[in-house]
Amino acid sequence: MASCSTKPQLPAHLAKAPSSLPPNTHPLPRTGQLAALLTGLRNKETSRGAFVFYADRVNRLLVEEGLNHLPVLEKTVTTPTGLDYNGVGFEGKICGVSIMRAGESMEAGLRECCRAVRIGKILIQRDEETALAKLFYAKLPEDIAERYVLLLDPMLATGGSAIKAIEVLIDHGVPEERIIFLNLVSCPEGLQAMYDAYPKVKIVTAWVDEALNQQKYIVPGLGDFGDRYFTSR
Ligand code: URA
Repeated sequence: MASCSTKPQLPAHLAKAPSSLPPNTHPLPRTGQLAALLTGLRNKETSRGAFVFYADRVNRLLVEEGLNHLPVLEKTVTTPTGLDYNGVGFEGKICGVSIMRAGESMEAGLRECCRAVRIGKILIQRDEETALAKLFYAKLPEDIAERYVLLLDPMLATGGSAIKAIEVLIDHGVPEERIIFLNLVSCPEGLQAMYDAYPKVKIVTAWVDEALNQQKYIVPGLGDFGDRYFTSR
């Protein structure tokens, strides 16, 4: 009989993230809970309300893991018993930056963990003439160069938008190593493109899918995230 401390096993095809990921990729641990949430997100029969619920749950897990990558400093406090406790506190200030529009879905999860966090926004779209990612709008905290940045975008497909967004952050003085990219579903192509462009940016991703299809959708994927989160039934 299995010991009572044994966690349920996932089916073999879900149990492990691909082994040859770029070194800056940090996938969430593949638990039954995470796999079940992702299954709900992938199901085309999932209603909008349920999709939002599942996505918000995964976002919360991503934010919690992203915060684990921030440095801490020793800090001593006095407890109500009158004793000193030698603990730690976060070293620096943070902010969020969402890549519009899908990344805005991740802002609530960040606010739940970091009350009153400053959040900037970047809008990037494909230039129809050049087919390259083009910056349309950026509103960022004025002191962003002094902060760690949690960059938010749920789907990492080719990496074009995220790479452009990182370029904008670096232009505003944010060192590459202070950027943590939080993402729900990624694919090997996008992760490799990100690593090639900005190897010091940490990527925390909930799930690495198999590939991109011809239409540049992630497969098996979950379809158009923004449509499903913000507009569909
Ligand atoms: N954006 C999405 O919403 N879905 C994909 O599969 C790829 C990019």
